[in-house]
Amino acid sequence: MNFPAFQKSYGRRTVLAMPDFALEPGRVCAVLGANGAGKSTLAKVLAGAVPADGGQRVVPARVTVGYLPQRSFPFRMTVRQNLLVTGGGRQRAEELLSALGLSPLADRRAALLSGGELARMSLARALMRPCRLLILDEPTAAMDMESTVLAEGLLQRTCRETGRTLLLVTHSLQQARRTADDALFLHRGRLLEQGPAGRVLYQPDRPETKEFLDFYGS
Ligand SMILES: Nc1ncnc2c1ncn2[C@@H]1O[C@H](COP(=O)(O)OP(=O)(O)O)[C@@H](O)[C@H]1O
Ligand SMILES: [Mg+2]
Repeated sequence: MNFPAFQKSYGRRTVLAMPDFALEPGRVCAVLGANGAGKSTLAKVLAGAVPADGGQRVVPARVTVGYLPQRSFPFRMTVRQNLLVTGGGRQRAEELLSALGLSPLADRRAALLSGGELARMSLARALMRPCRLLILDEPTAAMDMESTVLAEGLLQRTCRETGRTLLLVTHSLQQARRTADDALFLHRGRLLEQGPAGRVLYQPDRPETKEFLDFYGS
């Protein structure tokens, strides 16, 4: 899947300048970078939630996209209904409720969930419908370690089994090392590094990436 170069500015400030880049089908690509690096902006532009400068289409129209924003909200209904309302079907809903440990919470009102429970429900909802490109913005940031591991396993399986491409935005180097096949490293709105996770996350080319790994890697 190939994407053209684009920029995103707010006012006079360009917060993201991306060159051409590509994502491989069926693989998990982590987007790493410090706070403010432009990770969510990349996710939003690819998801079509905000336009790129110039308004050009970055993701081709034939590519179906699923998107979980960094801040997601429950619909005012039960957890199970939050999944069913996507139209993805009962069987898929029950599979996902079970896979993310949500079955006991299925009849609760979603608005009353804890932060970590809400994050699990939001992820399940984002996985309800098939798509070619799935964009998840810090999906596990509010989860405890046990849920995080469940979620990571589910995401890896989903990509392998369905050929979906996953763009996984995370500030966690550990998460990227556990789950990613490929990685992008953003620094101050620039794409500094792109390639197999084994290289980018362990033997990067750029000093900025090395500094990030030294800081978060221990
Ligand atoms: N709607 C907006 N208006 C102005 N600046 C924004 C807006 N959204 C994001 N930014 C700025 O763009 C930069 C990148 O933000 P973001 O992509 O959210 O970073 P990250 O997700 O990597 O933490 C930040 O400096 C942020 O303040
Ligand atoms: Mg962000």
